[in-house]
Amino acid sequence: MSGLRHVTSINDLDNAEIEQVFALADKYLKELGETMERTERTRAGANLTTQRIAKSGRMGTGSILATLFYEPSTRTRLSFESAMLRLGGRTITSADPATSSAAKGESLADTVRVVSSYADAIVIRHPRDGAAKLAAQYASIPVINGGDGAHEHPTQTLCDLFTLRRHNKKLKNLSVAVSGDLRGSRTIHSFVYALARFGAAIRLMPGGKGMELPAHVDWRLRNEFKCVPLPKAKYAEDDAVDALYVTAERPHQLSLIADASSNYKLKKAVDAVYVTRFQKERWSEGARDYMKVDSKFLQNSRYKNTSVMHPLPRVGELDIALDHDTRAAYFQQAAYGVPIRMALIAEVLGLEKNFALAQFKTGFRHGDYELYERPPGDSGIRCRNPNCIVHDPYEGPYAANKFLYVPAEAPRLRCYYCETDIVDFLIAHRRRGHYDSKLSRRRPVGDFRDVVFFADEEAAETAGFSKGQPRRAAGK
Ligand code: NCD
Repeated sequence: MSGLRHVTSINDLDNAEIEQVFALADKYLKELGETMERTERTRAGANLTTQRIAKSGRMGTGSILATLFYEPSTRTRLSFESAMLRLGGRTITSADPATSSAAKGESLADTVRVVSSYADAIVIRHPRDGAAKLAAQYASIPVINGGDGAHEHPTQTLCDLFTLRRHNKKLKNLSVAVSGDLRGSRTIHSFVYALARFGAAIRLMPGGKGMELPAHVDWRLRNEFKCVPLPKAKYAEDDAVDALYVTAERPHQLSLIADASSNYKLKKAVDAVYVTRFQKERWSEGARDYMKVDSKFLQNSRYKNTSVMHPLPRVGELDIALDHDTRAAYFQQAAYGVPIRMALIAEVLGLEKNFALAQFKTGFRHGDYELYERPPGDSGIRCRNPNCIVHDPYEGPYAANKFLYVPAEAPRLRCYYCETDIVDFLIAHRRRGHYDSKLSRRRPVGDFRDVVFFADEEAAETAGFSKGQPRRAAGK
């Protein structure tokens, strides 16, 4: 459908579009008036009591936003609803799965098809990775991801980047420490992609054991978002940092940075420290040893002028004594949720003549990756992320077996929904009736309709394929 734009990942927006959302958010922030501007000057969360209702009703009248929340939320849902009301629109909400048709076993796919005739845009939050992508596949109105499992939370990233941009007067080439549950925090996954795209130096600080970035996110940073890891010697003084990435602005600078990485001049000051809570709902253990950011942590001179950020809620990892520290930016970050979401809704719905997403080519991400799609239920490889929406008993039948084929030194199959990669798989050919005994390093065949991907030999043989001869490099 022409002009229909979904925002399921931060990578559905290109950099120019993000800047455009910010330009519109600046305008709304001005209109929202005194309260926010005053908060901004003080930069102290404690002063953040909103006293003023914005002027609204100018536009958006008649537009309805549906918020479908299958997981707890305070900020995301309420700021989206507030944003829509401030735009002069209206909202309908389903925030309790127990009182919606989900409790009767209705699939998300059916729900969004129905809601498409009740509203003009949908914001969805769901515990499954890739749920927003599935919703977008079935909705005929724009779908905005309000957080899907541990996958992404693109609108939180817009708030985060907007905060960085206002505090630093720019977005490019910042130095940001990203800390806490890097594995389970969807906010971090969207955030690090965006930071890389705006040329940041990213200091990765896992909050506890096993809390590093998921391997596929890390791989994408290095291979798709031009991040170069610096040698440990460059940040040896900072124990908390597990890896430090710098970003090449242009692809040809990549090897220059890589070659010169030990001479790379690393800026000492850290512009922001981004703190996250332990995502206990995404781990089998309910509690773990975890880091704490407090005035002691921040006493190093590199944090002298840092902005302390947090998507909230905080549950002990961020000392409340910091609330009166001028570096605390988290309540303001949350307050920016309203103008940012106003801007995004307006752009997605085309409410403002000069600010419409549709004027840009859709999406930043997919590049030339080919889509491999098998009908639901067909044999062949399935996504290996157990929390992916394709494994949900209600949604599975609606989720086709879809992967993007990522050509690389070792090719990858990227789940279309949750974007987790599979690196070991076999390629079988329908017409020839056999599977390749070795993974081809090149594009598998001309036509994906002739191909079935399998997890291993046993799966391929069970499906009736036999082992083929290794192919010669040039042959089909
Ligand atoms: C985050 C989320 O839901 O992912 N919250 C939010 O939207 N601001 C962070 C979290 O829950 O830890």
